[in-house]
Amino acid sequence: MGGKGLILAIESSCDETAAAIVERGSHTLASVVASQIATHARYGGVVPELASREHLRAVVPVVRAALEQASVTLKDLDAIAVTSGPGLAGALLVGITYAKALAYAQKIPLIAVNHLEGHIHAVLLNEREQQNGQQAAKDEPALALVVSGGHTHLYLARPAHGSWTYKLVGRTVDDAAGEAYDKVAKLLGLGYPGGPWIDALALHGNPRAVPFAFSRIKTKIHLGGKPPRTKAATTAPIANLDPRFLFSFSGIKTAVLRYVELHNLRPEAEARREALFTGVDAPAKATIEDAVAACDEQTLDLIASFQHAVVGDLLKKTFAAQESLGASRILVTGGVAANRELRARFTAEAARRNLAVAFPRLDLSTDNAAMIAAAAWPRFEAGEFAPANLSADPSLALGSAGA
Ligand code: KG4
Ligand code: ZN
Repeated sequence: MGGKGLILAIESSCDETAAAIVERGSHTLASVVASQIATHARYGGVVPELASREHLRAVVPVVRAALEQASVTLKDLDAIAVTSGPGLAGALLVGITYAKALAYAQKIPLIAVNHLEGHIHAVLLNEREQQNGQQAAKDEPALALVVSGGHTHLYLARPAHGSWTYKLVGRTVDDAAGEAYDKVAKLLGLGYPGGPWIDALALHGNPRAVPFAFSRIKTKIHLGGKPPRTKAATTAPIANLDPRFLFSFSGIKTAVLRYVELHNLRPEAEARREALFTGVDAPAKATIEDAVAACDEQTLDLIASFQHAVVGDLLKKTFAAQESLGASRILVTGGVAANRELRARFTAEAARRNLAVAFPRLDLSTDNAAMIAAAAWPRFEAGEFAPANLSADPSLALGSAGA
């Protein structure tokens, strides 16, 4: 047992195998992420069976690399933290099984962390690192938007004696925002994951060229509690959520598809895919410059308009929830929080309202294990350890639900 407050965290909920070592939840000594993008890119999405296999291959070397990067040994650690859900069952189990073995062998506690809580702690870790261990706005409730490939969830996060409580106040009823980015990018013959491609290409188009609209979501048709079709969806019921804070991104994906068909852009998208991605094993051959050159004005306008609409909808509902719930600030996190237009527009809107908004730095926005170690720290201090029979919970919810 180390005694320095060192937590080794392992994250394997989706398509990144990650390990990190963080001191007292506020100082990152090492953060290693092995991405499986090259494996899944040829399928345009994550293939669960391949994800598990890749995690099995990567988990030991990734943990070893984190220990080396931090210049510590297993004996220096105080606890092992691991993502227990939500996520892909087989993928989660790889991290959980290895984390259990390490904790058992070292005779140190195991801490289970919810992946979504991890994303929220990515922002808090970033703040503490920037402010030498101090947390901004200590006792104030924050409205957190977790927006990634698997989630578009709004939480009211309240600090409570060093730890946090969460209330789910809104979420998508179908696709996650990142999922819409990935599907639209695939449709347009761009790379996987789609977010970074669309983010960069949108700069070259007219965001007002195609007027996409989001209609108000009718909860009645979703009252059956059918889970959304996201790759790491939580099945928390939406019946008791305020419809103003519900999202739906499957409609805009279909609207983009209709636009593509109507304007006969599909042959061009196929040609673009051929030109940018030669062979299934070289998915990252193309650069953004190549992609810009391979898109005509109409496609660039479509991309810019899609992004403008998605960011506008995220912004409108997040600020409405913040105002309605009286949160004193906004946290935006998850892979889509890396988006340039999203950061710029959320920052401008917050400034207009004289409100604070915080994002994690880019490497903490997408999946990583430093955020899992940071979320584990308050649990370590409170002695909240995982049972020896900890298992994966693919649809693990965070906090209670309700407005
Ligand atoms: O948080 P994350 O790494 O994994 C999940 O938990 O899902 O998020 C990945 C998602 C993908 O859908 C990806 O397309 C999206 O985040 N993404 C972005 C950007 N970078 C990643 N979306 C928009 N703009 C970006 N710059
Ligand atoms: Zn994530």
